[in-house]
Amino acid sequence: MKHEVVEKNIGLMALLMVFAVSIGGLTQIVPLFFQDVTNKPVEGMKPYTALQLEGRDIYIREGCVGCHSQMVRPFRAETERYGHYSVAGESVWDHPFLWGSKRTGPDLARVGGRYSDDWHRAHLYNPRNVVPESKMPSYPWLVSSQVDNSHTDVKMRVLRSLGVPYTDDDIAGAKDAVKGKTEMDALVAYLQVLGTAIKNKR
Ligand code: HEC
Repeated sequence: MKHEVVEKNIGLMALLMVFAVSIGGLTQIVPLFFQDVTNKPVEGMKPYTALQLEGRDIYIREGCVGCHSQMVRPFRAETERYGHYSVAGESVWDHPFLWGSKRTGPDLARVGGRYSDDWHRAHLYNPRNVVPESKMPSYPWLVSSQVDNSHTDVKMRVLRSLGVPYTDDDIAGAKDAVKGKTEMDALVAYLQVLGTAIKNKR
């Protein structure tokens, strides 16, 4: 019996199992690389401005993703609270994406426009200023540190090579666009654009 050969040879069985499982994986994963819905930006979406891009890097540096996801799941409890569920086309220019999985704080995928700039400044300076029971850390240094603009244009050029449609003008003006701005300016600019490509129907 051929089957017995497989049953008695664990090495061969392991190999065949890996083969069988990878077919399942490949049929799910490979098509995603070729579908418009996962590859095309949502209509009207704009690449991050130089300031927003630097803000995103500060978001990464400060570890915000460790407490905040950016992924509204398509369940009623989520959409009622946060707004329209996240779609793949919103993340195509995010390298790396910041979907996250830990929600010590609320999801931020649709936080853009929900609060004023002043609210964000007060909140990031010390969350207890505006949410007395908050256990989010304070980030007071953002107010006094200037954005490091030494690589803003390089970052944009790299992103362009990955498919983000920055123009030559965007790149040429990048350093000046963030010159003299504080890290707080940049982070707030980033937060305010999050999730705004899709109309927030909350
Ligand atoms: C230790 C976990 C933790 C970290 C790290 C953290 N947060 Fe929070 N965040 C929270 C919690 C908890 C709340 C809810 C209470 C509040 O509003 O302060 C919150 C709330 C927020 C809100 C308000 C969201 C809403 O819809 O009301 C924003 C915006 C925010 N955080 C941004 C940030 C940014 C930007 C960073 C990084 C600089 C950051 N957070 C880092 C825990 C965290």
